[in-house]
Amino acid sequence: MSTETQQPTPAGSTAALGTASNSAAAKPSIRIAGLTKIYQMGSETVHALRGVDLVINRNEFVAIMGPSGSGKSTMMNVLGCLDKPTAGTFWLEDERVDQLGATALARVRNEHIGFVFQSFELLNRATALENVMLPLLYSRKHWLGARRLAKAALARVGLGNRMTHRPNELSGGQRQRVAIARALVNEPSLLLADEPTGNLDSRTSEEIIALFRELHDQGQTIVIVTHEEDVASNAERIVRLRDGRVFSDFVTREDPVHGEFLKMMMRQAVEAAGDGGTVPLATAGLPGSPAPQAAGGSEVKP
Ligand SMILES: Nc1ncnc2c1ncn2[C@@H]1O[C@H](COP(=O)(O)OP(=O)(O)OP(=O)(O)O)[C@@H](O)[C@H]1O
Ligand SMILES: [Mg+2]
Repeated sequence: MSTETQQPTPAGSTAALGTASNSAAAKPSIRIAGLTKIYQMGSETVHALRGVDLVINRNEFVAIMGPSGSGKSTMMNVLGCLDKPTAGTFWLEDERVDQLGATALARVRNEHIGFVFQSFELLNRATALENVMLPLLYSRKHWLGARRLAKAALARVGLGNRMTHRPNELSGGQRQRVAIARALVNEPSLLLADEPTGNLDSRTSEEIIALFRELHDQGQTIVIVTHEEDVASNAERIVRLRDGRVFSDFVTREDPVHGEFLKMMMRQAVEAAGDGGTVPLATAGLPGSPAPQAAGGSEVKP
């Protein structure tokens, strides 16, 4: 059981966690402190989040990991303004949002958040184009340009030739691309994805994660929940939750658990190559294995 008593790098002092690429001009996208979420289920009290402190800067690509039930989705729902915390503070960009009511939260969600879900959450009777137009129609300010913007978002995710298809006429990877286009169409400052590759086979997962990387290269701030180390390899930083708390927070290449994963992959590749053989390039070049980023990170010992 976890008995951690201190967090040496709480939110607000995480400058060292900024990546080399953005640390000079790091501006927080997310600042949460003491974030707590308690669910009351009849007589049972569930402490889903027990005081999470975290700063995520603009243009970062962060993976949230942790065992089932550790609070990842709960945290994403709060970050995505789909749910409110029981206690704690949450600043999104320059606005404090933890105390906003439902209408104001919907406005913040519309202005700032793109959310991608494991199960796509598309309207089955609507075409890809109509699905992507939907957030624009809600926001009213884009009514006139909705069709044009939705087409551009679909083109951006490589689905320019599937606009009139309905979800059941698309592959799983294409459905998730539609969902990503829908998340991007409002030009959100923050793209959140809760296990976006959870329902996809490994090849399709790679395509989707490559798309996230591309978006990040274009400057998009991304927070992604995943159970898979090879997916997390693509992020610059891995935040691990355990029992509703931040257990560790490392630049990806310095994350000890991730390091073990990479070593294992390397061993497997060497074995597969046989003695004297060469390591397959695909494995040698695993994202996360090079060391392009600044040092930083902290761990709360169990
Ligand atoms: N709406 C809810 N009502 C009551 N309890 C909830 C609710 N949502 C989540 N929980 C509980 O909160 C805890 C954290 O759940 P959460 O869904 O955040 O975990 P997770 O880390 O996303 O897990 P997984 O990897 O399985 O998706 C769990 O114990 C869960 O049972
Ligand atoms: Mg979850």
